[in-house]
Amino acid sequence: MEDLKKKIEEIEINALKEIENVIDFKKLTELKIKYLGKKSELFSISKQIGNFEKEERKEVGEIVNKTSEKLKLQFDLNFKKIKKIELEKKLQNEKVDITLPGEEVEIGKLHPLTQILNKITEIFISLGFLVVKGPEIETDYYNFEALNIPKNHPARDTQDTFYVEENLLLRTQTSPVQIRIMEKTKPPIKIISPGRVYRADSIDATHSPVFNQVEGLLVDEKITMANLKATLEIFIKKLCNKDVKTRFRPHHFPFTEPSAEMDIECFKCGGKGCSLCKNEGFIEILGCGMVHPKVLENCNINPSNFSGFAFGLGLERIAMLFYDIKDLRLFYENNLKFLKQF
Ligand code: DAH
Repeated sequence: MEDLKKKIEEIEINALKEIENVIDFKKLTELKIKYLGKKSELFSISKQIGNFEKEERKEVGEIVNKTSEKLKLQFDLNFKKIKKIELEKKLQNEKVDITLPGEEVEIGKLHPLTQILNKITEIFISLGFLVVKGPEIETDYYNFEALNIPKNHPARDTQDTFYVEENLLLRTQTSPVQIRIMEKTKPPIKIISPGRVYRADSIDATHSPVFNQVEGLLVDEKITMANLKATLEIFIKKLCNKDVKTRFRPHHFPFTEPSAEMDIECFKCGGKGCSLCKNEGFIEILGCGMVHPKVLENCNINPSNFSGFAFGLGLERIAMLFYDIKDLRLFYENNLKFLKQF
């Protein structure tokens, strides 16, 4: 009996010694089998317990239990240690070094046409104009008829376009927005309307079948050509950020009477004449005029009570002038080398 106790004690001391520093999962598992498994000394002792006397049985049983508990505890402790070490290793390997420079995300910019449009809208908003939009697929009525361009009118020839159906077409100008607004709104009306327009033109350095215009319309009582000139002069001065000489040249548009084109003094040569202004000293900027009485009537606005002015400018044309761009196609090619310059 005493021998057996000693034996168990020895097993415990040896086992604890052997387990103590083992932090290798495989080895620890092997040791667990060696000391607590079915082939272990402790297990075979526990199987012999039944052969002892009652008193002894209890005593030996308790010692065996205590020892195996102790060993189990030590094994658990080591297994936990292994897990912790493994976790630390994993964390170490997967650690993100937040001090390393990040991957740079390239920040884009607004397209030069958007930049110019933003400037233009800001100026007109500051003058009290509302920004409105119209559909790009228009009826023949809004695009031509209501604007005093009847069927077979020669003005239609210069604005040949893409028809969706017989009376539905891709708008050739933003002017139909004038009609849509005047039909719905009582004067005073003060709007600008930017948007895409379409014409059946072959693409080259100065022509594109799709381009952008900005339309303007002001209708109120007693509006005269003086209001038109004052408004557009303020606009162009704000756009150029300086005093600019302007010139209004008589022109013809079916929906305005009188009509004009506004030129500004060439900012490249200061009016002396150069390649940009084709020796004119002036550059054409936009078309404008007093809203034709017939157009007002088409929208149920009485021309005896109200008058107005309108204007229309080509966004690409203005951007080309301001940024000194010779080829319109550059705006649509999305070449970053080009776009990054603005
Ligand atoms: N719609 C004209 C065009 O596309 C431009 C224009 C001229 C608009 C005179 C106007 C205007 O509102 O008054 O050629």
